[in-house]
This record gives sequence, structure tokens and C-alpha cells, in this order.
Amino acid sequence: MPTTEEIHLVRRPNGVPAPADFALVEAPLADTEDGQVLVEALWMSVDPYMRPRLDADQPLNGPLLGGGIGRVVQSRNTKFPEGALVRHGAGFRKRFVSSGKGLAVLTPDPDLSLSVYLHALGGTGLTAYGGLLETGALKDGEQVFISTAAGAVGSVAAQIAKIKGCYVVGSTGSAEKAAWLRDELNLDAVINYKTEPLAERLAQVTPNGIDLYFENVGGGHLDAALPRMNVRGRIPVCGMISTYNGGGEGVRNLFALIYGRIRMEGFVASDFGHLSADFLREMTGWVKSGQLKYQETVLQGFGRAPEGLIGLFKGDNLGKMLIQISD
Ligand SMILES: NC(=O)c1ccc[n+]([C@@H]2O[C@H](COP(=O)([O-])OP(=O)(O)OC[C@H]3O[C@@H](n4cnc5c(N)ncnc54)[C@H](OP(=O)(O)O)[C@@H]3O)[C@@H](O)[C@H]2O)c1
Repeated sequence: MPTTEEIHLVRRPNGVPAPADFALVEAPLADTEDGQVLVEALWMSVDPYMRPRLDADQPLNGPLLGGGIGRVVQSRNTKFPEGALVRHGAGFRKRFVSSGKGLAVLTPDPDLSLSVYLHALGGTGLTAYGGLLETGALKDGEQVFISTAAGAVGSVAAQIAKIKGCYVVGSTGSAEKAAWLRDELNLDAVINYKTEPLAERLAQVTPNGIDLYFENVGGGHLDAALPRMNVRGRIPVCGMISTYNGGGEGVRNLFALIYGRIRMEGFVASDFGHLSADFLREMTGWVKSGQLKYQETVLQGFGRAPEGLIGLFKGDNLGKMLIQISD
């Protein structure tokens, strides 16, 4: 019987995941029946949201939940012809048989790389776009603070805010990332939260306060941002990565919400399906014109997915963390 490879969770992590929490497993691959297709994985996305799932939702000894881009290599379903590129959420499986449920044909722009559809033109890009413009109701020229500004979501959010004429401050965790934000993305101020006192620096570089804090980190970042918020400020809550491995710093400044009349609101990317057409049109234009730049940290080889996921919590990635499996 033909086989495939899968990445399984074999033990629930205690804190930051360890390589031994995962295993590369050879698994049987069923024949393709009528209505089904066989898909070969090309690129996989590793994302911070996967970590909280490892504590409960992710089945043990089953393929790691997640999504990517693949190619149809055998088809008995006319909607997905052989050779078609598809987005999928079928988990970390090198090859898999699908009924077509959860697959979407992808027709990439010939001038763009395929991988960009897993970040700037994919889920993380839409998250930044919708979180900033819809949940955050960003207005041109506002004062904006973005955490994990050199990551997949943060770097897109920071650049959209710059395109909208905003004053943009970003935080990040390394000198290399800070240099990219300052020198390439032209942020107005950058804070390396690992080497600089975050609250003091943020106060220095936001002389006109903050109208919108795009929250990706939680804990000390939220605590530093709250006292700087202007009246009627907004905090769209995209993520709180500092809490995903348990622990994290407590937040003491939430009282600032009261007199500041500040709105703090969570969202998930799937809330923004109705923005997809506008998002794809605008973002494709920005990427092709070079107005919106991106970086990728690509690990080659299916088996490196756990390393990629763990790396997100060590700050190993500049821009989007990706796993490339095949061309
Ligand atoms: N709501 C949604 O639908 C949605 C969708 C996608 C992502 N998100 C959220 O958006 C945030 C960013 O996700 P992403 O995919 O763009 O990941 P990312 O920013 O590309 O990668 C994660 C980055 O987080 C930073 N980080 C890790 N641990 C940290 C800690 N304890 N404190 C501060 N920073 C830490 C690291 O950057 P540094 O080197 O700069 O520290 C790391 O490179 C996450 O909170 C994620 O959960 C939400």
C-alpha cells in the first residue's frame, strides 16, 4: 500500500513546545476514488495559533492541524483538475486524498511567488487588513503602535498604516528586525523590547499618544500601551503571543480604558471574508508596486515543521515562517 508522511503531536507540550512533542510518521495513503483528488503539499504555514490548540483541540497521534498550498497530482473530481494549485486546511500531511471539501483552487498572479499567498496575500495579510481597517477603524494620519511589527501580521499592518499616512511605531525583539522596520519599511520609531525599557521608550516615541494599538503580544506590551492611549482610542486584539505557552506578565493598566473611552475588541481572520475581494485587489497592487514589502523565513523540508512552529516563540522568523516541501 502506498504511504505518506505526516507530522503528529505525540505529547502535549509543557510551556514552549519541544521537538520531542512531535514525530514524523509514515502513514497509509488510501487510493483515490470517484469524486476525490490526491494532493501533494508544496508549502505549509506554521502559525502561533497552533500553539494553544496543542493543549486540547489538537488530537494526539494525529496529523498536526494546519494549512498550506498543494498541487493536485491525481484527480477524479472535475472541480480540481490534475496540476491545479489548491489552498487547503488538511493538516501536516505530505500527500493526502481529499473529497475536495476544504480545498480552494488558487490561481496565482504570474508575477508573484506562490508563497506570498500564505502571508501578505493570504490569511495573515487579511488579518492585518481587516483588524486594522475594520475592527480598528483606522483613520488616515492617526498615531499607531504595532507589536511584533516584523512578523507576518505585524509587518503588513505596519505598512498599511504607513500607506494611510499614519505615524507608526513598531516593537520587535532583535536588532536585525528593528533595522528592517526602520530602514526598509520606514517606520517612524522602532523599539527593541528585549534591549530597551518598553514603557519608557514607548512614552518617548509617542508624544501625541496612540489612537490605535494593534495588539499581537499582550502582557507587558498591553500594559505599556494602555497609558499612552488617546481618548476614543481603539485596541484591535489580534493575538497575545506572550501568553500562549502559559505564564506571561499580568496586565495592571486596564483602568485606562475607562476615562479614555477606549474600545478593545478581538477578532479572527474569518470575520473578514466579506473584505476578501477589496483585500486581494488592494494588497496585490501594493505588493506588485513594491509599496508593501515582505520577508519570508523558509525552512526546507516537511520534517522541519516542528522546528518552524517552535521558532515562532523564539523569534527565529523575520516576516512569515514557512515550510517548503516541494517546488
Ligand atoms: N486573530 C487572528 O485571526 C490571527 C491570525 C493570525 C495571527 N494572529 C496573531 O497575530 C500575532 C502574530 O502572528 P504572526 O502569524 O504574524 O506571527 P509572527 O509575528 O510572524 O511570528 C511570531 C513572532 O512573535 C514574537 N514573539 C514570540 N514570543 C513573544 C513574546 N513572548 N513576547 C513578544 N513577542 C513574542 C517573535 O517576534 P520578535 O522577535 O519581534 O519577538 C516572533 O517572531 C500572534 O499573536 C497571532 O496569534 C491572529
